[in-house]
Amino acid sequence: MFYTEEHGYSPLRFDPFKAIIAPRPIGWISTLDADGKPNLAPYSFFNAISSRPNMIGFSSGGLKHSPRNASETGEFVFNLSTFDLMNEMNRTAEDVDDGVNEFELAGLQMAPCKLVRPPRVAAAAAALECKLISCTELIDLDGRPTDRWWVIGQVIATHINDRFIKNGRFDTAAARPLGRCGYHDYTVVDDTIELLRTDKPEQMLR
Ligand SMILES: Cc1cc2nc3c(=O)[nH]c(=O)nc-3n(C[C@H](O)[C@H](O)[C@H](O)COP(=O)(O)O)c2cc1C
Repeated sequence: MFYTEEHGYSPLRFDPFKAIIAPRPIGWISTLDADGKPNLAPYSFFNAISSRPNMIGFSSGGLKHSPRNASETGEFVFNLSTFDLMNEMNRTAEDVDDGVNEFELAGLQMAPCKLVRPPRVAAAAAALECKLISCTELIDLDGRPTDRWWVIGQVIATHINDRFIKNGRFDTAAARPLGRCGYHDYTVVDDTIELLRTDKPEQMLR
């Protein structure tokens, strides 16, 4: 099969784009609104985009609460979304009114951060406190604004549940992060494969 993307066309019943770029990590983003009310929502147009400085980014279709709050307050928190919190994560995706606290909606405990004001998910295996670098609207090939908003933050502090630290490493497989696939599909990272670089097998891990 081959097709071009003209006018957002796909010959398949559902656009396979998100099933091809899969699995995607989920940025479970907590913020505070301008009145100080907590907000929590999942974003799978999300990834780590730089190390040292450690930076992460997520994109929002429309200026939803998370990008708006991050822009207004200059802060957001990444919470790791894992298999054990899958249903809670899903509830926090509900389209709710301004000021509704999705931590309460999903029955999740909040825990304080140290350097930023938004709370984190107390039960999360890891959380990253971030300061906003930018929130910009994506522009398409024709230079037209898309109403897709790209938020970048720099990590300034990290929380890890000690249960997931083994031999000086974060044990990703033990934490069982969720990955977002296409349609309504998810996957779980519960196994890893070590593959050393062929040109630098002795390379120190950083
Ligand atoms: C697993 C998952 C991933 C999602 N990823 C995105 C995303 O990348 N961008 C987006 O705009 N919405 C995404 N959504 C939908 C938002 O979570 C949803 O619109 C939510 O209500 C936004 O909340 P907020 O307005 O509090 O930020 C996703 C939903 C789920 C369940």
